[in-house]
Amino acid sequence: MSKEIVLNSPLDMHLHLRDGEMLKLVGPLTSKTFAGALVMPNLVPPVTTKEALLSYKNRIKEACKDDDFEPLMTLFFQEYSREFLEDIKDEIIGIKLYPAGITTNSENGVAAIDAESLRPTLEAMSDFDIPLCIHGETNGFVMDREKEFMPVYEGLAKAFPKLKIIMEHITTKDAVELVEKYDNLFATITLHHLIITLDDVAGGMLQPHLFCKPIAKRYEDRDALLKVALEANPKVMFGSDSAPHPKHKKESCGCAAGVFTSPIALQVLVELFEKHDKLDNLNAFLSLNAQKIYNFKPLTKDITLVKKEFIVPNIYEGFGENVVPMYNNQKLFWSIK
Ligand code: NCD
Ligand code: ZN
Repeated sequence: MSKEIVLNSPLDMHLHLRDGEMLKLVGPLTSKTFAGALVMPNLVPPVTTKEALLSYKNRIKEACKDDDFEPLMTLFFQEYSREFLEDIKDEIIGIKLYPAGITTNSENGVAAIDAESLRPTLEAMSDFDIPLCIHGETNGFVMDREKEFMPVYEGLAKAFPKLKIIMEHITTKDAVELVEKYDNLFATITLHHLIITLDDVAGGMLQPHLFCKPIAKRYEDRDALLKVALEANPKVMFGSDSAPHPKHKKESCGCAAGVFTSPIALQVLVELFEKHDKLDNLNAFLSLNAQKIYNFKPLTKDITLVKKEFIVPNIYEGFGENVVPMYNNQKLFWSIK
């Protein structure tokens, strides 16, 4: 019999599910294999009201209705009143802050991230125990954007010691070092940043399907990420940042940022942890760490993977939409049973 492994309530703590027809196509590609996912709010317009949040949640539930799956909702950061946050706190798992213009649909983000001017909102979030998720990049030189953002994380961590701050999709050795330095800093790590470097994106022929924000960095950065992921360091958790864009927006002049990994994430993570003889740590990286960091209990959902070849589809299509996954047309060693 082929080797099998059971994953308990896998969680994707950073996911773009989009809306409309794209949501109908990609939603089930996560809900089939994950117990829950933290859903990013960078829609057009961004999710900033209770009404928008609850109706988006309903559309996600409708798209994923064949599966046991819990969408963990987030608001798009702006300055919110204490009353508003008190009223919405039980409906959200966190609030996502984007520096203005830094990535897809972030035009309404924060122009200057300054602890003092944002204090009323951040203090209320801290009091209500609402985590702050941050896309941590400046608008400097693309390879240095995350590194340059470190003082901002540090300033916020010091100014709001009880506020949980999630450094989203970290890509550098500097971020790995910083997350360990403050009790209230945590981080998500994507699948692709555990595997690729800038060489894979632009070292040979340009690979649009591996282009994302933050851009993949150096070998030493990837190795630092891999080390904390494989040891399931309690400060880090899995967040795919799977970010679907239709094929024509990726394979075009002016490629949209985002790597689509939802349908292959678990298979590739098992392969990676197996290769490094760390399979025993995978459940912590994929679920237990997130449960502790966000202090919640997910749905009970066991997913079995079997060591059997899986050829990744060239493209996923439906509802008039399409999206090309990472590893399209390639052979993986594990399949979902
Ligand atoms: C994301 C998207 O397309 O929404 N893109 C990406 O490259 N990761 C936004 C984001 O998380 O930066
Ligand atoms: Zn993202």
